[in-house]
Amino acid sequence: MAVRTPSDITEAVAALKAGGLVILPTETVYGLGADAGSAEAVARLYEAKGRPRFNPLIAHVADREGAERVAVLDERARRLADAFWPGPLTLVAPVRDGGGVCDLARAGLDTVAVRVPAHPLTRMLLDAFGGPVVAPSANRSGRPSPTNFADAVEETGFAAAAAMDGGPCPVGLESTVVACLDGPLRLLRPGGMDRAAIERIVGPLAEAETDAKRSPGRLALHYAPDAPVRLEASGPRQGEAYLAFGPAPEGPLVWNLSATGEVREAAANLFAYLRAADRAKPSAIAVAPIPETGLGEAINDRLRRAAGYVG
Ligand code: TXA
Ligand code: MG
Repeated sequence: MAVRTPSDITEAVAALKAGGLVILPTETVYGLGADAGSAEAVARLYEAKGRPRFNPLIAHVADREGAERVAVLDERARRLADAFWPGPLTLVAPVRDGGGVCDLARAGLDTVAVRVPAHPLTRMLLDAFGGPVVAPSANRSGRPSPTNFADAVEETGFAAAAAMDGGPCPVGLESTVVACLDGPLRLLRPGGMDRAAIERIVGPLAEAETDAKRSPGRLALHYAPDAPVRLEASGPRQGEAYLAFGPAPEGPLVWNLSATGEVREAAANLFAYLRAADRAKPSAIAVAPIPETGLGEAINDRLRRAAGYVG
């Protein structure tokens, strides 16, 4: 079911209220949403994704006030929220008692991840729903995140009571996750909001600890297509697909992430091209070197995980 109009948003809200799952567009990637307050709906969500229950979810809210109802934001978190919401930034902060994000959605932690997404359809949905909606990326666990409607439906449509088509996701990488707890702010996951922009507001970010409890989603072998991934490749070998970056020869198994060598464009294309290359069933997917600048940090993070390197 493609849902576009406000009246259909009513339908999507009804599905959430009934404990159902809803495919929703965000500016980063498509999400699979559930009522954050319903342990039953959240259990259904973990099951649909095949996601380990120790990996907590992000609560999506309509605005900063909504975020303050679920989390205790300190002054640094508020500055980041004011600078970047709505947008591809997730803040991890102490959970507020009675804030409506159930234990299961937080994997039992006393912290909660929260963000205000920028996509207009999902903002309307959150406004109308009136409470937090947890939404992991709409892929089955361990697969690349879907960045367009068709890919989202292919991944988790079987489990969705409603699905909203918001077109292709302009950012194409999951949100940047920053922990705003005691001590220095920490980068838990590089993503669609680049580090330099964040550091201009709050100064240098500390690195994530490797402690799996603090950054439970940072599993190796995440985001993986079926074919093996070969990085830093100057070109394809026999039988390989190739994700190019910058000027490159064309070919049947070549996808150019950005012919002009722009990391922002490469980010927007990354997951859709990984999927397209994978569908051709190549012996491997070779990927050109991508610079670490701007969103390149997050692109390389996802590529290293797709290649199976421990991050
Ligand atoms: O862009 C996005 O963030 C997308 C869209 C749909 O909003 N969502 C997304 O969700 O990527 P997911 O579930 O695939 O990733 C959530 C990340 C995981 O790495 C998880 O471990 C981390 O956030 N996370 C959630 N709650 C946390 C917490 N309390 N402490 C530390 N990390 C947390
Ligand atoms: Mg994910």
